[in-house]
Amino acid sequence: MSSETGSHDNVPDDEKLPRAHEGHGETATRGEDPFANPGLPPHENRVQDVDERAAKRSERTVALFFTVSMLATVGFIASYVAFPIDKIIHVWPLGDISALNFSLGLTLGLALFCIGAGAVHWARTLMSDVEIADDRHPIEAEPEVRAKVMEDFRQGAKESQLGRRKLVRNTMFGAMALVPLSGVVLLRDLGPLPKDKLRHTLWAKGKLLVNENTDEPLRPEDITMGSLAFARPEGLDPHSEDYNTEIAKAALMLVRIEPDDIKDKQSLDWSYQGVLAYSKICTHVGCPVSLYEQQTHHVLCPCHQSTFDLADGAKVLFGPAGHPLPQLKISVNKDGYLEAQGDFAEPVGPSFWERG
Ligand code: FES
Repeated sequence: MSSETGSHDNVPDDEKLPRAHEGHGETATRGEDPFANPGLPPHENRVQDVDERAAKRSERTVALFFTVSMLATVGFIASYVAFPIDKIIHVWPLGDISALNFSLGLTLGLALFCIGAGAVHWARTLMSDVEIADDRHPIEAEPEVRAKVMEDFRQGAKESQLGRRKLVRNTMFGAMALVPLSGVVLLRDLGPLPKDKLRHTLWAKGKLLVNENTDEPLRPEDITMGSLAFARPEGLDPHSEDYNTEIAKAALMLVRIEPDDIKDKQSLDWSYQGVLAYSKICTHVGCPVSLYEQQTHHVLCPCHQSTFDLADGAKVLFGPAGHPLPQLKISVNKDGYLEAQGDFAEPVGPSFWERG
């Protein structure tokens, strides 16, 4: 640009040729500049620039897009609440699909599309479309440049008519404010708040210990020396919907140790004739511990090798686990079956922020 301008200074006046756009004040030299700047075409007003009724129509169209976006976001949230996850509907030509997925996709897509369509229509019909050309210049953030940027910004804000077209502005802000709610409601899929759910299990006073493999209530004599047995609370149906959620907390591991070999006094008090019941959920990140060594009474978690001493309150001997395995206090009922004396005294599984 600058070399082109420089060449003009040495050309005699009678050889200068007006450019296609005289209004921009540049000239080209006859026969010397085959790439003369054609300049900008004359500006043509749009119908909205000269007809306020047309501008109003455009304004209403833009507002309609933003309003539909808001309604679609409300529809997204309503769909999320209303449709069960397993409801299937037939939609031509897609066939049988999840009603929840279909409605979430449809409403969120519509909400985002309408914001985009409203913004495009607004820019094309209401914002200033006057062509502007600017010479290249060094990239420097001089104070004057910054002041010019701010001035341009203010000018742009003025030309966008945000202040004047209140209907457009308000509906746009409404649509932009509502659409993030779609993401917020999806946080519900992360599950219930953990506070009470993690602190309590199905174990309660009088609940029988049921063998995980045979489904039969356990007696102390069923737990043989040197082996592990696994139990769940009486009443927890393996075919029920919440089985996985509940067994993930209540899974129990039973071991029989000679009472004289039990080092921890509380463990001895909470056992029955040498039968000890511990949570099977590793206190590191929740794998099921299961590798038992009879001679040492150590049990190993296969995930990261945390090792617990079942004869000493399931204290951690090795590995990344931060706490002993919680012990369940047990006894026998009048029929001779093992039963819990309450819930675990502390949260089972990995440590979490409210663990005491
Ligand atoms: S989960 Fe058991 S050691 Fe990591």
